[in-house]
Amino acid sequence: MNEEQRKGTSIDILAERDKKEKDYSKYFEHVYQPPNLKQAKKRGKEEVKYNHDFHIDEKYRNMGKGKTFLIKTYGCQMNAHDTEVMAGILGALGYTPIDDINQADVILINTCAIRENAENKVFSEIGNLKHLKKEKPETVIGVCGCMSQEESVVNKILKSFQNVDMIFGTHNIHRLPEILEEAYLSKAMVVEVWSKEGDVIENLPKVREGNIKAWVNIMYGCDKFCTYCIVPFTRGKERSRRPHDIIEEVRDLARQGYQEITLLGQNVNSYGKDIDDLEYGLGDLLEDISKIDIPRVRFTTSHPWDFTDHMIDVIAEGGNIVPHIHLPVQSGNDAVLKIMGRKYTRESYLDLVARIKAKIPNVALTTDIIVGYPNETEEQFEETLTLYDEVEFEHAYTYIYSQRDGTPAAKMKDNVPLDVKKERLQRLNKKVSYYSEKALQQYDGEVVKVLCEGTSKKDDNVLAGYTERNKLVNFEGPKSAIGKIVEVQVDEAKQYSLNGTYLRESESNMVTV
Ligand code: SAH
Ligand code: SF4
Ligand code: F3S
Repeated sequence: MNEEQRKGTSIDILAERDKKEKDYSKYFEHVYQPPNLKQAKKRGKEEVKYNHDFHIDEKYRNMGKGKTFLIKTYGCQMNAHDTEVMAGILGALGYTPIDDINQADVILINTCAIRENAENKVFSEIGNLKHLKKEKPETVIGVCGCMSQEESVVNKILKSFQNVDMIFGTHNIHRLPEILEEAYLSKAMVVEVWSKEGDVIENLPKVREGNIKAWVNIMYGCDKFCTYCIVPFTRGKERSRRPHDIIEEVRDLARQGYQEITLLGQNVNSYGKDIDDLEYGLGDLLEDISKIDIPRVRFTTSHPWDFTDHMIDVIAEGGNIVPHIHLPVQSGNDAVLKIMGRKYTRESYLDLVARIKAKIPNVALTTDIIVGYPNETEEQFEETLTLYDEVEFEHAYTYIYSQRDGTPAAKMKDNVPLDVKKERLQRLNKKVSYYSEKALQQYDGEVVKVLCEGTSKKDDNVLAGYTERNKLVNFEGPKSAIGKIVEVQVDEAKQYSLNGTYLRESESNMVTV
């Protein structure tokens, strides 16, 4: 996006604040609106532009020479991958990464807004940095990620966190060189947040976290507007990358020797729906990617709404698409699902699970669940428990509902006391543990294929990795196994992981075209 387009369309905040000034309101007049559901739902009419021309201007190339950076990342895989892009851009500017926060010249906090406790962690982190900024005023501190898309957060930082030098949003990452330059040049806090998404920008540099597994964005944003969720506001409307760009990226990762990729999107099943000139969905993309020589392909997250039979058929083929499906259900009660805006019922979810299990008998299903939705009754909660028994999920991420300003659910009165919500979460978590353990016990005595990622966090002599169905395996074996898919004899099923003994390198499960 060029400067003209930027001015004309989508700047919500482009403000600089003199740190001595007390009245900040003028910076927000006409330029920033809090998340507005009605407005947000109107979006989607403009065509998405694909920008393949991203480059870093020569004049920025030496900006980071002799300087270091550290990025602290909160939240989901999207954010983890955004961090890799920011690391790529900083690398291209000449900065080098460093682990010691006290030594870093640039510190970026890549934030998550999904629940209140996620935000609280970030505020305490930024607070902790006040001390460092006082001792080393030349350190540049930046706040980015989903929280920077919220007006209340930007206001709070402007008012109470003088130690922050720049705030930039999820649609502004590619502008990091310009934003940094502004931060160096001005004494004021630089704020650049576009609430409306920009183009799909290709060819951004990336420094990936490792050389075994890689994230690959297939789409950005979310149009589902579940009534509790902030993501459609922080990440903008759904924009799919072109199939060719994704396939080229995966081919390149395969050439580099990566063993596993995870296709990323807030709702990957909607992939392609926004591409007008192509009839091409996630099933087609999975089919094309299954022909590439990369041993393992995962995808996340799937919304049950758009899960097609074509996708089930492609996964059922075997090949490199692993039989693990993360299928967030959120609740087992129809009335709660309805007010959540999930657009499926308990019955249709169970029907989808039955179709999946019929075609992919060895599938590992995992899920996300929210307890204590406003006014959730004991009976409604119990339906979540019975649904769990019916599906026998192998794992679940469980949360107490957290009110997010600007979302429809935030306006609902809630008669469920916090201690009741906590007690429900405990009961649910007991069930989750029971079935996770049961799922692991199936492997006792079996031989499993493990992608060895390195040594265990607790013991340098123990190797660790995951099976196709995402089970953590710790085992003793040669260090040469790292980065390879190996066969491991499972000796013991523990509560959260398996213990085993290395047998041999796996016959390549590469796919031959
Ligand atoms: N796009 C994914 C979910 C991304 S957010 C999907 O719909 O499947 C990850 C999980 O966080 C959600 O599945 C939900 O369980 C939880 N979550 C989102 N908003 C929340 C809120 N306001 N309070 C509690 N949990 C929430
Ligand atoms: Fe949030 Fe729903 Fe979109 Fe998932 S699908 S990111 S829960 S709005
Ligand atoms: Fe959090 Fe944003 Fe991901 S709110 S969960 S980092 S999309």
